[in-house]
Amino acid sequence: MSKKPLILGIESSCDETAASLITENEQGIPVVLSNIVSNQEEVHKKFGGVVPELAARSHIEKIDWIVKKAIDESGRKIEEIDAVASTAGPGLIVCLSVGLSFGKAIASAINKPFIAINHLEGHALSPKINTNLDYPYLLLLISGGHSQYLNVQGLGKYKRLGTTIDDALGEAFDKTAKLLGIEFPGGPKIEVFAAKGDPNRYDLPKPIFNKGGCNLSFAGLKTAVLKISKKINTEQEKFDLAASFQKTILEILYKKTIIAFDQFEKANHVKNKIFVIAGGVAANKQIRSMMTNLCEEKNFHSIFPPINLCGDNAAMIAMVGLEKFKLKQFNKLDFPAKPRWSLDENAMFLKGAGVKL
Ligand code: KG4
Ligand code: ZN
Repeated sequence: MSKKPLILGIESSCDETAASLITENEQGIPVVLSNIVSNQEEVHKKFGGVVPELAARSHIEKIDWIVKKAIDESGRKIEEIDAVASTAGPGLIVCLSVGLSFGKAIASAINKPFIAINHLEGHALSPKINTNLDYPYLLLLISGGHSQYLNVQGLGKYKRLGTTIDDALGEAFDKTAKLLGIEFPGGPKIEVFAAKGDPNRYDLPKPIFNKGGCNLSFAGLKTAVLKISKKINTEQEKFDLAASFQKTILEILYKKTIIAFDQFEKANHVKNKIFVIAGGVAANKQIRSMMTNLCEEKNFHSIFPPINLCGDNAAMIAMVGLEKFKLKQFNKLDFPAKPRWSLDENAMFLKGAGVKL
Protein backbone atom coordinates (compact mmCIF):
# COMPACT_ATOMS: atom_id res chain seq x y z
CA MET A 1 0.00 0.00 0.00
CA SER A 2 1.50 3.34 -1.08
CA LYS A 3 1.76 6.17 1.45
CA LYS A 4 -1.14 8.53 0.90
CA PRO A 5 -0.67 12.29 1.40
CA LEU A 6 -1.80 13.74 4.73
CA ILE A 7 -2.91 17.37 4.53
CA LEU A 8 -3.73 19.84 7.30
CA GLY A 9 -6.33 22.44 6.27
CA ILE A 10 -6.99 25.71 8.14
CA GLU A 11 -9.94 28.09 7.65
CA SER A 12 -10.52 31.51 9.25
CA SER A 13 -11.93 33.72 6.46
CA CYS A 14 -15.02 34.90 8.36
CA ASP A 15 -16.58 33.75 11.63
CA GLU A 16 -15.64 30.06 11.72
CA THR A 17 -12.28 28.91 13.09
CA ALA A 18 -11.65 25.48 11.59
CA ALA A 19 -8.98 22.83 11.07
CA SER A 20 -9.09 19.43 9.41
CA LEU A 21 -6.85 16.54 8.41
CA ILE A 22 -7.54 14.77 5.14
CA THR A 23 -6.01 11.89 3.27
CA GLU A 24 -7.26 9.67 0.44
CA ASN A 25 -8.15 6.01 0.17
CA GLU A 26 -6.73 3.46 -2.29
CA GLN A 27 -9.29 4.57 -4.91
CA GLY A 28 -8.09 8.19 -4.63
CA ILE A 29 -11.26 9.37 -2.87
CA PRO A 30 -10.59 12.11 -0.25
CA VAL A 31 -11.27 10.88 3.28
CA VAL A 32 -11.77 13.20 6.28
CA LEU A 33 -9.80 12.12 9.38
CA SER A 34 -10.88 15.07 11.52
CA ASN A 35 -13.00 18.18 10.95
CA ILE A 36 -13.15 20.70 13.80
CA VAL A 37 -15.28 23.84 13.39
CA SER A 38 -15.86 26.47 16.04
CA ASN A 39 -18.34 29.22 15.22
CA GLN A 40 -18.65 32.63 16.84
CA GLU A 41 -22.44 33.10 17.00
CA GLU A 42 -22.24 34.10 20.67
CA VAL A 43 -19.64 36.80 19.89
CA HIS A 44 -21.65 38.48 17.11
CA LYS A 45 -25.30 37.91 17.90
CA LYS A 46 -25.84 41.10 19.86
CA PHE A 47 -24.41 43.12 16.95
CA GLY A 48 -26.70 41.61 14.31
CA GLY A 49 -23.77 40.63 12.06
CA VAL A 50 -20.08 39.70 12.00
CA VAL A 51 -17.80 42.36 13.56
CA PRO A 52 -14.40 41.90 11.84
CA GLU A 53 -12.18 42.93 14.79
CA LEU A 54 -14.04 40.69 17.23
CA ALA A 55 -13.98 37.83 14.74
CA ALA A 56 -10.20 38.16 14.30
CA ARG A 57 -9.65 38.28 18.07
CA SER A 58 -11.70 35.13 18.51
CA HIS A 59 -9.70 33.33 15.75
CA ILE A 60 -6.46 34.28 17.55
CA GLU A 61 -7.78 32.88 20.83
CA LYS A 62 -8.87 29.58 19.31
CA ILE A 63 -6.66 28.73 16.36
CA ASP A 64 -3.91 26.88 18.26
CA TRP A 65 -6.15 24.50 20.19
CA ILE A 66 -8.45 23.94 17.19
CA VAL A 67 -5.48 22.84 15.08
CA LYS A 68 -4.17 20.68 17.94
CA LYS A 69 -7.60 19.08 18.35
CA ALA A 70 -7.78 18.35 14.61
CA ILE A 71 -4.37 16.63 14.74
CA ASP A 72 -5.26 14.69 17.92
CA GLU A 73 -8.64 13.54 16.59
CA SER A 74 -7.12 12.38 13.30
CA GLY A 75 -5.05 9.79 15.16
CA ARG A 76 -1.95 10.97 13.28
CA LYS A 77 1.12 12.93 14.38
CA ILE A 78 2.18 16.41 13.32
CA GLU A 79 5.39 14.96 11.79
CA GLU A 80 3.29 12.84 9.42
CA ILE A 81 1.64 15.89 7.78
CA ASP A 82 2.82 16.30 4.16
CA ALA A 83 1.58 19.87 3.55
CA VAL A 84 -0.35 22.67 5.22
CA ALA A 85 -3.18 24.41 3.33
CA SER A 86 -4.71 27.66 4.60
CA THR A 87 -7.49 29.84 3.21
CA ALA A 88 -5.88 32.99 1.78
CA GLY A 89 -9.06 34.65 0.46
CA PRO A 90 -11.64 35.90 -0.24
CA GLY A 91 -12.82 37.10 3.16
CA LEU A 92 -12.18 39.58 5.94
CA ILE A 93 -8.49 40.49 5.83
CA VAL A 94 -8.04 40.60 9.61
CA CYS A 95 -9.59 37.13 9.86
CA LEU A 96 -7.78 35.60 6.87
CA SER A 97 -4.44 36.75 8.27
CA VAL A 98 -4.84 34.61 11.39
CA GLY A 99 -5.24 31.21 9.67
CA LEU A 100 -2.84 32.14 6.90
CA SER A 101 0.00 33.10 9.27
CA PHE A 102 -0.66 30.10 11.51
CA GLY A 103 -0.60 27.73 8.54
CA LYS A 104 2.63 29.22 7.22
CA ALA A 105 4.23 28.96 10.67
CA ILE A 106 3.37 25.26 11.00
CA ALA A 107 4.52 24.50 7.46
CA SER A 108 7.88 26.12 8.10
CA ALA A 109 8.24 24.53 11.56
CA ILE A 110 7.72 21.00 10.17
CA ASN A 111 9.58 21.88 6.96
CA LYS A 112 6.73 20.91 4.63
CA PRO A 113 5.13 22.75 1.69
CA PHE A 114 2.58 25.49 2.23
CA ILE A 115 -0.49 25.81 -0.05
CA ALA A 116 -2.68 28.95 -0.23
CA ILE A 117 -6.33 28.13 -0.92
CA ASN A 118 -9.19 30.10 -2.41
CA HIS A 119 -12.12 29.65 -0.03
CA LEU A 120 -14.57 29.49 -2.95
CA GLU A 121 -12.55 26.68 -4.50
CA GLY A 122 -13.04 24.83 -1.21
CA HIS A 123 -16.82 25.18 -1.50
CA ALA A 124 -16.71 24.31 -5.19
CA LEU A 125 -14.84 21.03 -4.66
CA SER A 126 -16.38 20.06 -1.29
CA PRO A 127 -18.93 17.68 -2.88
CA LYS A 128 -15.99 15.47 -3.93
CA ILE A 129 -15.14 14.64 -0.31
CA ASN A 130 -15.99 10.99 0.47
CA THR A 131 -17.42 10.41 -3.04
CA ASN A 132 -16.19 9.78 -6.56
CA LEU A 133 -18.10 12.60 -8.20
CA ASP A 134 -16.78 13.36 -11.70
CA TYR A 135 -16.37 16.74 -13.40
CA PRO A 136 -18.09 18.73 -14.78
CA TYR A 137 -20.95 19.74 -12.50
CA LEU A 138 -23.03 22.82 -11.91
CA LEU A 139 -22.73 24.34 -8.44
CA LEU A 140 -25.01 26.79 -6.69
CA LEU A 141 -23.21 28.17 -3.66
CA ILE A 142 -25.56 30.03 -1.33
CA SER A 143 -24.12 31.13 2.00
CA GLY A 144 -23.84 34.17 4.25
CA GLY A 145 -21.02 35.56 2.12
CA HIS A 146 -21.51 34.17 -1.38
CA SER A 147 -24.20 33.46 -3.96
CA GLN A 148 -22.85 32.06 -7.22
CA TYR A 149 -23.63 29.62 -10.02
CA LEU A 150 -20.37 27.96 -11.11
CA ASN A 151 -19.60 25.55 -13.91
CA VAL A 152 -17.02 23.36 -12.13
CA GLN A 153 -14.88 21.75 -14.84
CA GLY A 154 -11.88 20.58 -12.83
CA LEU A 155 -9.29 21.73 -10.31
CA GLY A 156 -8.57 25.38 -11.13
CA LYS A 157 -11.14 25.38 -13.96
CA TYR A 158 -14.23 27.33 -13.00
CA LYS A 159 -16.57 29.36 -15.09
CA ARG A 160 -18.78 31.69 -13.12
CA LEU A 161 -22.21 31.70 -14.74
CA GLY A 162 -23.87 34.05 -12.29
CA THR A 163 -23.28 35.88 -9.03
CA THR A 164 -25.06 38.29 -6.72
CA ILE A 165 -24.56 41.92 -7.64
CA ASP A 166 -25.23 43.04 -4.05
CA ASP A 167 -26.15 40.99 -0.96
CA ALA A 168 -25.49 37.27 -0.56
CA LEU A 169 -28.61 35.14 -0.08
CA GLY A 170 -27.76 34.21 3.52
CA GLU A 171 -27.24 37.90 4.22
CA ALA A 172 -30.74 38.63 2.85
CA PHE A 173 -32.19 35.94 5.14
CA ASP A 174 -30.26 37.30 8.13
CA LYS A 175 -31.22 40.93 7.45
CA THR A 176 -34.89 40.01 7.04
CA ALA A 177 -34.70 38.05 10.28
CA LYS A 178 -33.15 41.05 12.06
CA LEU A 179 -36.03 43.26 10.87
CA LEU A 180 -38.44 40.71 12.33
CA GLY A 181 -36.63 40.88 15.67
CA ILE A 182 -34.76 37.57 15.33
CA GLU A 183 -31.15 37.34 16.60
CA PHE A 184 -28.20 36.86 14.17
CA PRO A 185 -27.87 34.53 12.31
CA GLY A 186 -31.64 34.44 11.89
CA GLY A 187 -31.81 32.67 8.50
CA PRO A 188 -32.88 29.30 9.90
CA LYS A 189 -35.63 30.96 11.99
CA ILE A 190 -37.17 32.57 8.88
CA GLU A 191 -38.04 29.08 7.74
CA VAL A 192 -39.81 28.39 11.05
CA PHE A 193 -41.72 31.71 10.90
CA ALA A 194 -42.59 31.15 7.23
CA ALA A 195 -44.22 27.80 8.00
CA LYS A 196 -46.84 29.65 10.07
CA GLY A 197 -47.50 32.46 7.58
CA ASP A 198 -49.37 33.30 4.39
CA PRO A 199 -46.84 33.53 1.51
CA ASN A 200 -49.27 35.60 -0.59
CA ARG A 201 -49.87 38.33 1.99
CA TYR A 202 -47.14 40.71 0.78
CA ASP A 203 -46.03 41.31 -2.77
CA LEU A 204 -42.24 41.74 -2.75
CA PRO A 205 -39.98 42.81 -5.64
CA LYS A 206 -37.77 40.38 -7.56
CA PRO A 207 -34.75 42.48 -8.61
CA ILE A 208 -33.21 41.67 -12.05
CA PHE A 209 -35.76 38.86 -12.47
CA ASN A 210 -36.17 39.43 -16.18
CA LYS A 211 -32.61 40.42 -17.06
CA GLY A 212 -29.00 39.73 -16.13
CA GLY A 213 -28.96 36.01 -17.04
CA CYS A 214 -28.50 33.96 -13.87
CA ASN A 215 -27.02 36.84 -11.88
CA LEU A 216 -28.82 37.54 -8.64
CA SER A 217 -29.82 40.60 -6.61
CA PHE A 218 -31.40 40.77 -3.17
CA ALA A 219 -30.79 44.33 -1.92
CA GLY A 220 -34.11 45.73 -3.26
CA LEU A 221 -35.96 42.89 -1.62
CA LYS A 222 -34.42 43.76 1.72
CA THR A 223 -35.46 47.41 1.33
CA ALA A 224 -39.05 46.34 0.63
CA VAL A 225 -39.01 44.10 3.72
CA LEU A 226 -37.68 47.05 5.75
CA LYS A 227 -40.58 49.28 4.68
CA ILE A 228 -43.24 46.68 5.47
CA SER A 229 -41.61 45.68 8.77
CA LYS A 230 -42.08 49.26 10.04
CA LYS A 231 -45.83 48.98 9.60
CA ILE A 232 -46.48 45.56 11.10
CA ASN A 233 -47.40 44.87 14.70
CA THR A 234 -48.75 41.38 15.17
CA GLU A 235 -46.93 38.05 15.29
CA GLN A 236 -49.10 36.81 12.42
CA GLU A 237 -47.96 39.71 10.22
CA LYS A 238 -44.34 38.76 10.98
CA PHE A 239 -45.04 35.15 9.97
CA ASP A 240 -46.74 36.37 6.79
CA LEU A 241 -43.77 38.60 5.91
CA ALA A 242 -41.31 35.74 6.48
CA ALA A 243 -43.46 33.45 4.30
CA SER A 244 -43.75 36.09 1.54
CA PHE A 245 -39.98 36.67 1.66
CA GLN A 246 -39.21 32.95 1.39
CA LYS A 247 -41.71 32.48 -1.44
CA THR A 248 -40.07 35.34 -3.37
CA ILE A 249 -36.63 33.76 -2.90
CA LEU A 250 -37.97 30.44 -4.18
CA GLU A 251 -39.37 32.13 -7.29
CA ILE A 252 -36.08 33.94 -7.96
CA LEU A 253 -33.99 30.77 -7.51
CA TYR A 254 -36.38 28.71 -9.65
CA LYS A 255 -36.11 31.08 -12.60
CA LYS A 256 -32.36 31.76 -12.29
CA THR A 257 -31.54 28.06 -11.89
CA ILE A 258 -33.34 27.22 -15.16
CA ILE A 259 -31.14 29.83 -16.88
CA ALA A 260 -28.03 28.34 -15.24
CA PHE A 261 -29.09 24.82 -16.36
CA ASP A 262 -29.40 26.08 -19.90
CA GLN A 263 -25.96 27.72 -19.84
CA PHE A 264 -24.39 24.62 -18.27
CA GLU A 265 -25.93 22.33 -20.91
CA LYS A 266 -24.66 24.54 -23.73
CA ALA A 267 -21.13 24.57 -22.28
CA ASN A 268 -20.92 20.83 -21.45
CA HIS A 269 -22.44 18.16 -23.64
CA VAL A 270 -22.78 15.51 -20.93
CA LYS A 271 -25.44 12.85 -20.39
CA ASN A 272 -25.17 12.77 -16.61
CA LYS A 273 -26.03 16.36 -15.62
CA ILE A 274 -25.19 17.07 -11.99
CA PHE A 275 -26.36 20.03 -9.90
CA VAL A 276 -24.76 20.54 -6.48
CA ILE A 277 -26.36 22.97 -3.99
CA ALA A 278 -24.00 23.97 -1.17
CA GLY A 279 -23.56 26.68 1.47
CA GLY A 280 -25.45 27.33 4.70
CA VAL A 281 -28.68 28.40 2.95
CA ALA A 282 -28.84 24.98 1.26
CA ALA A 283 -30.10 23.76 4.65
CA ASN A 284 -33.43 25.48 3.92
CA LYS A 285 -36.01 22.72 3.44
CA GLN A 286 -38.22 24.70 1.06
CA ILE A 287 -35.24 25.51 -1.17
CA ARG A 288 -34.16 21.86 -1.07
CA SER A 289 -37.53 20.52 -2.06
CA MET A 290 -38.03 23.10 -4.83
CA MET A 291 -34.56 22.33 -6.25
CA THR A 292 -35.14 18.55 -6.03
CA ASN A 293 -38.38 18.88 -8.01
CA LEU A 294 -36.80 21.23 -10.54
CA CYS A 295 -33.93 18.78 -11.11
CA GLU A 296 -36.39 15.93 -11.70
CA GLU A 297 -38.28 18.09 -14.16
CA LYS A 298 -35.14 19.15 -16.06
CA ASN A 299 -33.32 15.81 -15.93
CA PHE A 300 -30.51 16.95 -13.58
CA HIS A 301 -29.21 14.84 -10.71
CA SER A 302 -29.37 16.93 -7.50
CA ILE A 303 -26.71 16.63 -4.81
CA PHE A 304 -26.83 18.29 -1.38
CA PRO A 305 -23.51 17.72 0.44
CA PRO A 306 -23.87 17.00 4.18
CA ILE A 307 -24.51 20.20 6.16
CA ASN A 308 -21.15 20.00 7.97
CA LEU A 309 -19.42 20.22 4.57
CA CYS A 310 -21.82 22.89 3.24
CA GLY A 311 -21.11 25.65 5.75
CA ASP A 312 -17.59 26.99 6.26
CA ASN A 313 -15.17 24.23 7.28
CA ALA A 314 -11.51 23.29 6.87
CA ALA A 315 -12.09 19.83 5.35
CA MET A 316 -12.91 21.53 2.04
CA ILE A 317 -9.72 23.61 2.33
CA ALA A 318 -7.62 20.51 3.07
CA MET A 319 -9.37 18.76 0.14
CA VAL A 320 -8.22 21.41 -2.35
CA GLY A 321 -4.80 21.27 -0.62
CA LEU A 322 -4.68 17.52 -1.32
CA GLU A 323 -5.45 18.00 -5.02
CA LYS A 324 -2.85 20.75 -5.31
CA PHE A 325 -0.28 18.74 -3.34
CA LYS A 326 -0.58 15.89 -5.86
CA LEU A 327 0.19 18.38 -8.64
CA LYS A 328 2.99 19.98 -6.59
CA GLN A 329 1.21 23.35 -6.70
CA PHE A 330 2.87 24.90 -3.67
CA ASN A 331 3.08 28.56 -2.59
CA LYS A 332 5.78 30.67 -1.07
CA LEU A 333 5.53 31.85 2.52
CA ASP A 334 5.05 35.45 1.42
CA PHE A 335 1.72 34.63 -0.27
CA PRO A 336 -0.60 37.52 0.73
CA ALA A 337 -4.12 37.44 2.14
CA LYS A 338 -6.53 38.33 -0.67
CA PRO A 339 -9.81 39.84 0.58
CA ARG A 340 -11.07 39.74 -3.03
CA TRP A 341 -10.20 36.68 -5.05
CA SER A 342 -12.44 35.52 -7.88
CA LEU A 343 -12.45 31.85 -8.89
CA ASP A 344 -13.00 32.79 -12.48
CA GLU A 345 -10.33 35.37 -13.30
CA ASN A 346 -12.18 36.25 -16.53
CA ALA A 347 -15.48 36.98 -14.79
CA MET A 348 -16.44 40.64 -14.55
CA PHE A 349 -16.60 42.39 -11.20
CA LEU A 350 -20.34 42.77 -10.69
CA LYS A 351 -20.88 44.64 -7.45
CA GLY A 352 -22.16 48.05 -6.53
CA ALA A 353 -23.96 50.91 -8.18
CA GLY A 354 -23.51 51.37 -11.91
CA VAL A 355 -23.25 47.67 -12.73
CA LYS A 356 -24.68 47.05 -16.20
CA LEU A 357 -26.43 43.73 -16.82
O1 KG4 B 1 -22.14 28.64 4.67
P1 KG4 B 1 -22.48 29.22 5.99
O2 KG4 B 1 -22.62 28.28 7.16
O3 KG4 B 1 -21.44 30.29 6.42
C1 KG4 B 1 -21.04 31.36 5.66
O4 KG4 B 1 -21.87 32.20 5.31
O5 KG4 B 1 -19.85 31.45 5.37
O6 KG4 B 1 -23.88 30.01 5.80
C2 KG4 B 1 -24.47 30.71 6.82
C3 KG4 B 1 -25.70 31.36 6.26
C4 KG4 B 1 -26.32 32.36 7.26
O7 KG4 B 1 -26.63 33.53 6.55
C5 KG4 B 1 -27.56 31.62 7.73
O8 KG4 B 1 -28.60 32.47 8.14
C6 KG4 B 1 -27.95 30.85 6.48
O9 KG4 B 1 -26.72 30.39 5.97
N1 KG4 B 1 -28.83 29.72 6.78
C7 KG4 B 1 -30.11 29.62 6.32
C8 KG4 B 1 -30.63 28.42 6.85
N2 KG4 B 1 -29.66 27.83 7.62
C9 KG4 B 1 -28.56 28.65 7.55
N3 KG4 B 1 -30.82 30.44 5.54
C10 KG4 B 1 -32.08 30.04 5.25
N4 KG4 B 1 -32.67 28.93 5.73
C11 KG4 B 1 -31.98 28.08 6.53
N5 KG4 B 1 -32.56 26.99 7.00
ZN1 ZN C 1 -17.96 30.19 2.74
